[in-house]
Amino acid sequence: ENAAVSMIERKRADAQLGGGQKRIDAQHKKGKLTARERIDLLVDAGSFREYDTFVEHQCVDFGMEKNKITGDGVVTGHGTINGRKVFVFSQDFTAYGGSLSKMHAQKIQKVMDKAMLVGAPVIGLNDSGGARIQEGVDSLAGYADIFQKNVLASGVIPQISLIMGPCAGGAVYSPALTDFTFMVRDTSYLFVTGPDVVKAVTNEEVTQEELGGASAHTVKSGVAHNAFENDIEALQRLRDFYDYLPLSNRESAPIRKVTSAPPQDDPSLDNIVPVDSTKAYDMKDVISRIGDENSFFELAPSYAKNIIIGFSRLNGQTIGVVANQPLVSSGVLDINASVKAARFVRFCDAFNVPLLTLVDVPGFLPGTGQEHGGIIRHGAKLLYAYCEATVPKLTVITRKAYGGAYDVMASKHLRGDVNVAWPTGEIAVMGAKGAVEIIFRNSDNKVEAEKDYVTKFANPLPAAQRGFIDDVILPRTTRRRLIEELELLKDKKLSNPWKKHGNIPL
Ligand code: COA
Repeated sequence: ENAAVSMIERKRADAQLGGGQKRIDAQHKKGKLTARERIDLLVDAGSFREYDTFVEHQCVDFGMEKNKITGDGVVTGHGTINGRKVFVFSQDFTAYGGSLSKMHAQKIQKVMDKAMLVGAPVIGLNDSGGARIQEGVDSLAGYADIFQKNVLASGVIPQISLIMGPCAGGAVYSPALTDFTFMVRDTSYLFVTGPDVVKAVTNEEVTQEELGGASAHTVKSGVAHNAFENDIEALQRLRDFYDYLPLSNRESAPIRKVTSAPPQDDPSLDNIVPVDSTKAYDMKDVISRIGDENSFFELAPSYAKNIIIGFSRLNGQTIGVVANQPLVSSGVLDINASVKAARFVRFCDAFNVPLLTLVDVPGFLPGTGQEHGGIIRHGAKLLYAYCEATVPKLTVITRKAYGGAYDVMASKHLRGDVNVAWPTGEIAVMGAKGAVEIIFRNSDNKVEAEKDYVTKFANPLPAAQRGFIDDVILPRTTRRRLIEELELLKDKKLSNPWKKHGNIPL
């Protein structure tokens, strides 16, 4: 047997074991899978092609020259998910705690470069103790090089981060720059500085979980989009999620071939909006009835619940859904809701995903908390995002569309392609009570004035008479109508004036 061949095969076998069986057992004990087991679950069986299996770190400080682990703490390569190509890096916590060395960073950059070259998304499975301490500034340079590539790739290929272990310090900023960040409950956390530093600087006592666990980021900070129960669920859901995404900005959103019968009317939609316009209803019931069966993948379901975002399908075609949720704070727009929806709209626009906006909004949330927090600046993000979007824009006003929020929610005026209202639509500057308090402040007959206002404005006709909505449709026909309109718009071409880039309010 050739000595070189056997050495290579020995190295290859070493690489399979990462930091060794003992550390693999420790990883399993924590309820975590290894970097390779994760890749096996993420990509189609037999599809993974690994790069840089033999890479080792080049560090000679602190005795590191005698401490080499083949692969250097990250497994990289490409494969397919349900037959569509994908690039992956998966950090190996068993090798130096998955910490990022210069070479580890170079491996990640190589898959990012390849992904850009061929036009396919990058999925990062993060499980790392951060910068490789022994390498000093070399590892910081590695992070910065990755950030730079994250930014250049933004809007060109979808980038997804799944946090499956620690991710702290500089390491957090790569996930932050990617389009979607998912977490695993109880075993993953993200923070700029850990509990010890927090204690030293602010005297605050906080656990890792409270500071940067899955619920901190999916409920409070909005940093992560979804949290999953364990590694297996997370990877399976990620596969489902992947099916909605186009591979790059050069491609259209995928179409899942549907075999079912042509769309039928759905009479149950007629009764969703309550007769009493102050009563709440669940907009998710509308979304699930309009989209293809079981096709809604909600993002950030626990953050800013007054707005709903996620991917769905209309006759197999991926769409991005943005919808006010009357069930939570009457669906009001506030800072968090505006920011949540704005970034999603921009993702959809960058990647040719048509937008469906469902409107039932009483306006922007009043108060000093919101005003001093910058609702003007943050609300403007959503406005900006809708204005610049050139993808097909479909809007259905189910009930309230009041004030500036009417304008913002993909109105006709923002180059909406199809804007329709249900007969329950109310398109006005504000609700009747508030309006009468202002314009009939001194009237003796406010009850009469309110009635009058309701008759005039609490219906979609004034907007329809001005062409600001294209049609008033029966709720039951919504799905069929939207499918028709989307088909018509599939070759829509619209572009914005040339610019280096816009200056979105941040
Ligand atoms: N650089 C080099 N090695 C690291 C490392 C880093 N940043 N983080 C972890 N490791 C190594 C540990 O030395 C240990 O090596 P060993 O298996 O040879 O003993 C191994 O990875 C596992 O780390 P350990 O601390 O035993 O795991 P844990 O699950 O108890 O704790 C962390 C995980 C991430 C909380 C802890 O390792 C940590 O705080 N690391 C430093 C984080 C940091 O400050 N990074 C720099 C900021 S960018």
